[in-house]
Amino acid sequence: MVALVVVVLLLAMAAAVFVATQRGTGSGAAIPNPKPFSDLVFEVTLTGGFPNMVKLHAAHGPVFWWRLLGRRMLMVGSYEAAKQLLMGEGTLVRADYPPSVKQMLGPWGMVNIHGKSYTRIKRLAQAGFTPKAIRGYLPRIQAIAEEGVQRWAAEGDILAYPEMKWYTFRVAVELFLGVGTGWTGPQDFPAVSATFATWLEGLFSFPVAIPGTAFARGLKARDELMRRIHASLELLEQRRAAKGSSDDAARGDAAAGGPAPASNGAEQPILMELLMASRDERGEGLTRDQLADTVLTLLFAGHDTSSTTLVRIFQHLHAHPEAVTRLRQEQAEVVVKHGTAITEAALADMQYADGALREAMRVTPIIAGFPRIALKDFELCGYTIPAGTRLQCSLQHTLHTDSRWQAEDDPLAFKPERWLGQRDGAWIPFGGGPRLCLGWLMAMVEMKVLLAAIFRGHVLTLQEPNEPWMLFPLARPKHGMPARITEAEAAA
Ligand code: HEM
Repeated sequence: MVALVVVVLLLAMAAAVFVATQRGTGSGAAIPNPKPFSDLVFEVTLTGGFPNMVKLHAAHGPVFWWRLLGRRMLMVGSYEAAKQLLMGEGTLVRADYPPSVKQMLGPWGMVNIHGKSYTRIKRLAQAGFTPKAIRGYLPRIQAIAEEGVQRWAAEGDILAYPEMKWYTFRVAVELFLGVGTGWTGPQDFPAVSATFATWLEGLFSFPVAIPGTAFARGLKARDELMRRIHASLELLEQRRAAKGSSDDAARGDAAAGGPAPASNGAEQPILMELLMASRDERGEGLTRDQLADTVLTLLFAGHDTSSTTLVRIFQHLHAHPEAVTRLRQEQAEVVVKHGTAITEAALADMQYADGALREAMRVTPIIAGFPRIALKDFELCGYTIPAGTRLQCSLQHTLHTDSRWQAEDDPLAFKPERWLGQRDGAWIPFGGGPRLCLGWLMAMVEMKVLLAAIFRGHVLTLQEPNEPWMLFPLARPKHGMPARITEAEAAA
């Protein structure tokens, strides 16, 4: 009897899956559903690897069903389709992150809001990420990078992953909140890092706040982070009040496209001061809650991504000593031409470093993709996608399978020289359209500055270069990527 019930249940499940796969089709063709009983997140967690998207693409085409944290998703992996989704933000589709992300980032987290409130917050925040603003941040970023390299060389053996987090986090905090706000001091940083790690576990988890679950721990960590953020905002408000007329000056800078560059970085206005001073056309500023959720989004988006990308590039460079030689040559030429200060002009001459970063992000993108929900019925890759369908624009799928890459020799190999000169490749690691990564320029700059700081006078070796990676909730090396940074003369 029990066996009969089980068989009936299984048949019912199979029928439900079959019926579901018939939705969202065009001209009678069903969208492939190659893994009806699999959840991408479970699969990645169990196998420790990302499914081979090139193989799946060859077998099933650019669009097929999957599940992600229990939610049915259309995986989309063609560059043209990805662009259609990215450009169609707000008209065809809109960003639709899982419920856990919504709660961890808060109601005003930039990725959770849409329409007028979103446009307003993003526009205000953009003032801190213009080329002019980034130019102004450069001395501070270089100083932090060089301090890091000196310390790592003195320490000998390090774990590259947490150290890259230290670097990108310190850059983010100092640029967004300013120094002395209780985040990066020797006592603060380990505590903040641990809280962030717990928060991150909750970011992509099942949103059930039962004590002991990743989600419940994540929510507690969010409270702790918010407490710190509110304390920093309080401090900044007091400083602004003490400065008196600083509002008008900062507003003027924001209207002009960002803060003025400072010669030594010390007097550089900080992003949150700009945001606090910003007013919309009705003269209204952001509320304290809006500011606080924006800070949390920026701190998260602004450090975990760049740090992981840096570790990925270290791995590629370790496997390609010829690329390291070219990086070194380029840095030597840049120093001869521009001196040791890393200016905008010096960065523009770091073409090989730029190519190495782009190539690392193409071969090993650290973000799985962009989740979207269809706002209306529309055509995609020959299928009709009904309103309400959830879609995941899969980055690895898109970056690995595009015909422009497949037409090249060894398309998945790390070859920074692919990027020298003009080229049109399928490359969207920072997304695109209205939701284009707010910090893409800052990310490229901070990563290039760190490569310069290391490869101008030091040698980087990895102790466990083939260390396996965990891919969930965010990609990271399992053992933290043990490494050693030595002075070039000492290593010779
Ligand atoms: C290598 C480093 C980085 C990568 C690969 C990356 C990637 C991305 C991607 C793919 C998106 C689009 C998500 C979507 O369309 O749903 C995004 C959005 C975003 N990124 Fe980045 N990012 C990086 C660094 C940064 C940095 C340094 C910041 C600094 C604050 C930042 C802030 C943001 C924000 C605020 C958004 C949301 C934008 C919106 O919803 O309009 N990211 N990022």
